Amino acid sequence: MGVEGIEGSVYAAVGGQPFFDDLVEGFYAGVAADARLRPMYPEDLADSRRHLAGFLAQYWGGPTTYSDERGHPRLRMRHAPFVIGEPERDAWLRHMLGSLDPLVAARGTPPEEAARIRAYLVDVADFLVNAR
Ligand code: HEM
Repeated sequence: MGVEGIEGSVYAAVGGQPFFDDLVEGFYAGVAADARLRPMYPEDLADSRRHLAGFLAQYWGGPTTYSDERGHPRLRMRHAPFVIGEPERDAWLRHMLGSLDPLVAARGTPPEEAARIRAYLVDVADFLVNAR
């Protein structure tokens, strides 16, 4: 579904790009202090922040900045170089949902949109597990 559909309405309903920038900022603050995840990421997290915030904004109906720069997301392929088992998935989600929940509370994000984003993040994190 494109910008006219559910995703487009989510992007608008959460207030656009600043929501995703704040979400990703909080997420990487958690990653930066995580002994399991930190070594998987580049030393400079600036590009990682921009890519993830751009990807999420695009997915939910925002501008296609991510794909203009990076091409098709191909998330399974892009995560193939990293060993992602249950512990990595759990840590990733802990930081992401740990950023999402207070953000949603602080911004008064509509609960339906928040629930949709939360469910999506859990689904994709499950989908990206590539090691047991
Ligand atoms: C399940 C646990 C996950 C781990 C351990 C993980 C780890 C990583 C790592 C190490 C990178 C490369 C560093 C970088 O370029 O930023 C990366 C990139 C990325 N991840 Fe994940 N990730 C996980 C889940 C997810 C999920 C659930 C999503 C989306 C909902 C996601 C979206 C992305 C995106 C968009 C990129 C950048 C791709 C690009 O290079 O253009 N990741 N991830």
